[in-house]
Amino acid sequence: MPVTLYVVDANGAQHNITATAGQSVLDAVGQAGIDGLLGECGGCCSCATCHCYVEADPQAGLATPDEAEATMLDFVALPRLTNSRLACQLVISPSSDGLRIRLPERQF
Ligand code: FES
Repeated sequence: MPVTLYVVDANGAQHNITATAGQSVLDAVGQAGIDGLLGECGGCCSCATCHCYVEADPQAGLATPDEAEATMLDFVALPRLTNSRLACQLVISPSSDGLRIRLPERQF
């Protein structure tokens, strides 16, 4: 099921992209050709270079961080905020339609 995500890049430009339920935010943003999420570990939650900020309350049907994600969030390059997430761990659901993601200025 297609959902629309709003992705704000590090320059403040908003991109409206179409994603699919079951896909990760990391993959959806990458497939849309938007820079800002490196994903150096390939999505196995061991690099913290897919840090993003989820700007939704509640966080649009997203599961809360599990222990592995919560631990890796301690290693993000820019400040960890209450809405910090790792994009590889965010699985899009039909409830994610309209989700707004902000990308940090850097991942290192
Ligand atoms: S891609 Fe490495 S932690 Fe997300």
